[in-house]
Amino acid sequence: MIFIKSLFLLLLQYLAFTYGQTNLGHHNPPHHSLISDKAALLAFKKTVTLDPNSTLANWDEAVDVCNFTRVTCNKQHHRVVLLQLNGTELVGLLSPFISNLTGLRRLLLVDNHLFGSIPPEFSSLRHLRHLRLEGNNLRGSIPDSLVLLSQLKLLHIKRNNISGTLPPTLFSNCTLLENIDFSENFLTGIIPDEIGNCPSLWSVNLYDNQFTGQLPLSLTNASLFNLDVEYNHFSGALPSEFVRKQPDLGILHLSYNWMESHDGNTNLDPFFTALRNCTFLEELELAGMGLGGQLPISVGQLPVSLLVIDLQENQIFGSIPPNLGKLSNLISSCIALRTLNLSDNSLEGHLPESMGELRNLEVLDVSGNNLSGMIPVSLSKIQTLAYLNLSFNNFEGMIPTGGIFDSVTNMSFLENHRLCRAVSSRVAGFPICGRKRTML
Ligand SMILES: *[C@@H]1O[C@H](CO)[C@@H](O)[C@H](O)[C@H]1NC(C)=O
Ligand SMILES: *[C@@H]1O[C@H](CO)[C@@H](O)[C@H](O)[C@H]1NC(C)=O
Ligand SMILES: *[C@@H]1O[C@H](CO)[C@@H](O)[C@H](O)[C@H]1NC(C)=O
Ligand SMILES: *[C@@H]1O[C@H](CO)[C@@H](O)[C@H](O)[C@H]1NC(C)=O
Ligand SMILES: *[C@@H]1O[C@H](CO)[C@@H](O)[C@H](O)[C@H]1NC(C)=O
Ligand SMILES: *[C@@H]1O[C@H](CO)[C@@H](O)[C@H](O)[C@H]1NC(C)=O
Ligand SMILES: *[C@@H]1O[C@H](CO)[C@@H](O)[C@H](O)[C@H]1NC(C)=O
Ligand SMILES: *[C@@H]1O[C@H](CO)[C@@H](O)[C@H](O)[C@H]1NC(C)=O
Ligand SMILES: *[C@@H]1O[C@H](CO)[C@@H](O)[C@H](O)[C@H]1NC(C)=O
Ligand SMILES: *[C@@H]1O[C@H](CO)[C@@H](O)[C@H](O)[C@H]1NC(C)=O
Ligand SMILES: *[C@@H]1O[C@H](CO)[C@@H](O)[C@H](O)[C@H]1NC(C)=O
Ligand SMILES: *[C@@H]1O[C@H](CO)[C@@H](O)[C@H](O)[C@H]1NC(C)=O
Repeated sequence: MIFIKSLFLLLLQYLAFTYGQTNLGHHNPPHHSLISDKAALLAFKKTVTLDPNSTLANWDEAVDVCNFTRVTCNKQHHRVVLLQLNGTELVGLLSPFISNLTGLRRLLLVDNHLFGSIPPEFSSLRHLRHLRLEGNNLRGSIPDSLVLLSQLKLLHIKRNNISGTLPPTLFSNCTLLENIDFSENFLTGIIPDEIGNCPSLWSVNLYDNQFTGQLPLSLTNASLFNLDVEYNHFSGALPSEFVRKQPDLGILHLSYNWMESHDGNTNLDPFFTALRNCTFLEELELAGMGLGGQLPISVGQLPVSLLVIDLQENQIFGSIPPNLGKLSNLISSCIALRTLNLSDNSLEGHLPESMGELRNLEVLDVSGNNLSGMIPVSLSKIQTLAYLNLSFNNFEGMIPTGGIFDSVTNMSFLENHRLCRAVSSRVAGFPICGRKRTML
């Protein structure tokens, strides 16, 4: 009896032992952090009402959370560190439960149909470096609690329905912040001076909002490569002081704001002079602001790195002197230039022959000015030219032939009543030179 009893005990012990072994070997209980990470992800999944690509199909209680599709763990720290649901077409509420994933380094929810507001609870994501919510249906304002994300390097909220102002506190602890994109929302108010607290910022995209006021000078605390604030209501003089202190600037898009040139919208020189310090500048876009003044001499000393100059839809006036004056200075220094749009201004005088030296030019649009004289034959040598618009000016004489004039399809000479064409010309709608009233 005793023997049987001890045999039974031994058997029990054996069973318990092997069960324990099995447990250790094949069903290692997950770390408690991973249990709560899994709970957070399953709570997120619950608020998803449509998952057309079944991306979340294996997000299930029975599956190891580190095996969930688009989820990455740091095995050592037993935490979910990356959630990568870009472009998965998910429809649903942006669940505050994500804020329980406190080990997250990167949260990428780009291009879904998530709605609701940005949960203030996201302030719990203390280790977050990248937060990308662009291309969703989020509304409401940017919670000021995001300030607590002191590890944040990249914050993209573009293409949502976010409104309200930028909370100044957002920028109170942003030593590491490098890249922000709040474009294509409904943000209002000024850019707070506190943005000067972010010395690592190099890319700032705020285009297509309703920001007002001036660009804060405190931005010069950072060394920006990209500043795009197009399509807002920024006012004041062109930011000369700012650009003078931004030697790394590569992209400057200020178009379609309410800014003006210096001295009561009459003087472009201080701004173009200041731009000389930006020796890496590639894109300069200052369109649609009603900027007044002449093209200054300093425009001829802009950095040779420039690829795009957009000055269209302004009130820039004055003549281009026959001796390859102001515009020709611009031309000879901008040998890399691909796009030059000066349309819809009040420029007068001739288009200089030296234009032909812009050997990389692809787009030249000077339509809607009051330019006169002959069309420079030198343009025919620009083999890269794919678009040439000289319409709505006062050009006269023969439309040149040869080179690009025989091949480019996007050429426009409309409303230049004193132009004529060669017999061999492919351009229709003009009389043949030397013959009278032979419209074809
Ligand atoms: C997780 O995935 C690995 C590799 O695909 C697999 O070996 C393992 O069994 C999976 N674990 C669970 C619990 O699903
Ligand atoms: C998600 O976006 C990031 C950043 O653009 C990219 O590196 C990653 O490859 C994307 N992941 C997927 C699954 O598309
Ligand atoms: C979703 O599924 C469609 C069809 O299978 C596929 O073409 C598309 O690339 C998928 N999208 C993603 C983000 O996986
Ligand atoms: C998880 O997040 C939700 C929503 O923010 C919150 O109510 C809950 O207390 C959190 N749970 C834990 C364990 O932190
Ligand atoms: C954004 O808001 C506008 C109205 O303010 C609405 O027409 C539009 O459908 C909204 N877009 C999204 C993606 O929610
Ligand atoms: C700023 O962030 C650091 C960690 O990077 C933290 O120690 C500090 O408390 C934060 N300060 C404020 C005011 O939040
Ligand atoms: C520039 O940064 C320093 C410290 O990072 C800060 O004290 C100063 O106020 C900032 N300047 C402006 C104009 O914001
Ligand atoms: C800008 O350039 C001028 C000379 O054109 C130079 O004197 C000045 O120091 C430069 N400023 C900065 C901030 O680099
Ligand atoms: C130049 O600017 C005008 C006015 O905004 C615009 O209509 C035109 O399309 C631009 N030209 C090119 C080639 O983009
Ligand atoms: C265009 O220039 C001609 C001189 O070339 C001048 O007579 C005319 O008034 C100007 N038109 C406009 C609208 O400025
Ligand atoms: C050239 O510019 C004029 C006036 O801006 C416009 O009407 C015309 O469509 C343009 N031509 C081409 C080919 O884009
Ligand atoms: C030039 O014309 C082609 C078609 O003929 C068109 O696809 C292209 O967009 C045009 N380029 C510009 C700058 O308008």
